[in-house]
Amino acid sequence: MKDIGIGLLGLGVVGSGVAGVLLNKTDKLAEQAGIPLVLKKVLVRDVNKQRLDCFASLAMTDRAEEVITNPEVDIVIEVIGGEHPALEYIKQAITTGKHVVTANKEVIAKYGYELLSLAQKYNVGLRYEASVGSGIPLISPFQQDLAANDISAIYAILNGTTNYILTQMSQEGLDFPLALRQAQELGYAEANPVNDIEGIDAAYKLAILSSLAFHTAVNPKNIYCEGISRLQAKDFKYAKEFGYAIKLLAIAKRDGEAIELRVHPVFIPEDSQLAKVNGVYNAVQVEGNLAGKLVFYGQGAGALPASSAIIADVLTIARNISYRISNAPKIQLNQKLTVKPISDIKIRYYFRLNVLDRPGVLAQISKVLGDNSVSISSVIQKESDLKSQTAVLVIMTHPAEEKAVQKALEEIKQLTVVNEVSNFIRVEG
Ligand code: NAP
Ligand code: HSE
Repeated sequence: MKDIGIGLLGLGVVGSGVAGVLLNKTDKLAEQAGIPLVLKKVLVRDVNKQRLDCFASLAMTDRAEEVITNPEVDIVIEVIGGEHPALEYIKQAITTGKHVVTANKEVIAKYGYELLSLAQKYNVGLRYEASVGSGIPLISPFQQDLAANDISAIYAILNGTTNYILTQMSQEGLDFPLALRQAQELGYAEANPVNDIEGIDAAYKLAILSSLAFHTAVNPKNIYCEGISRLQAKDFKYAKEFGYAIKLLAIAKRDGEAIELRVHPVFIPEDSQLAKVNGVYNAVQVEGNLAGKLVFYGQGAGALPASSAIIADVLTIARNISYRISNAPKIQLNQKLTVKPISDIKIRYYFRLNVLDRPGVLAQISKVLGDNSVSISSVIQKESDLKSQTAVLVIMTHPAEEKAVQKALEEIKQLTVVNEVSNFIRVEG
């Protein structure tokens, strides 16, 4: 072979970063791979769209087969995103005998096992380091460096857009829509930002990581998922008063033959490492029986961090081709574990209630909690409105079962002295 041909599907935020590295770092990449890497063809949706001047020399097409079945292409990089047609393109590339590198967490979370099996059958590589944590090395460490460990837990900030939004809301007092717009302008958000805001993007990433950590095929549909849209400025204020930060965490915990899998906003102690992860940064805290506690930290979104992971995957495949080592993936998903329903978890809770400000109200609320075996750790009456004779009540509980808490909240909503259960947030640590 005189070179390794690269076909690029997508020239958006990430594709532009990847193309830039392939065009500007040719000597360094050839040295690393042991053979030149040449970008042969690029798929875009609209060939007439204005592109950066530096891409004027690129051979672009809007016909996928000109890239995927191109005889000059050895490695297909998929960065168009979304489920379809990305899934079909990846399958077509594998069955045509091309190695594939993708940043697509949705496709890998939903179809990873199927695609890895297909790649094994066709003896080609399928690598996806950029799909979780972007530039933070996570897939390789889980597959290789932590292989001797029994992993007991993962606590992770896996979505740069929401972490950026929460940081802006907490530190700058920005409203949610403005913070989201900024994240979109900076290229962090998905084409459909609902996936970021509602925790779906983080759930896809947690499915990928927990499959690797627990050697079991995790279906993202089995991950309990809540987003950040119901958080309000008041919650950040009260969290601070109690010594907590609010983060959107992706959590996986092993408990015997069961695993807890959940993505939701959570109070975490403000002096914890994850509480100090701000802006677009991601962090993944892993607990292994041999390595102990590890924290992986870095930029979880943006063109260059994603390119770093994608080019590393390309180099691994290219080196294996150079040295005639098989790129076929090894699949180790042989553990049969059940996913614990959210109703069975036991954790502390924060409630914010709007209630009538009169004698006996607290007694009625604490009776409902007590009757449901939910024990109160502290109660603070935050604000009273003399005119409407209402008050804001903030309650922190001791660890309690989720199903008991949900039942108690339903009963509290029915009390005539309660105007509103304004929010409830789980508390970790
Ligand atoms: P993007 O900016 O929306 O770019 C998508 C690119 O794919 C565009 O060039 C678009 O063409 C092309 N495309 C989309 N649908 C197509 C279709 N049906 N046929 C042909 N071309 C199509 O997306 P992105 O932010 O780069 O994200 C790409 C992938 O990387 C996603 O899976 C994402 O989850 C993942 N990722 C993103 C980041 C990040 O920070 N953005 C980080 C890590 C991983 P046009 O240019 O003609 O519109
Ligand atoms: N939209 C994703 C995020 C991009 O904000 O984390 C990286 O996967």
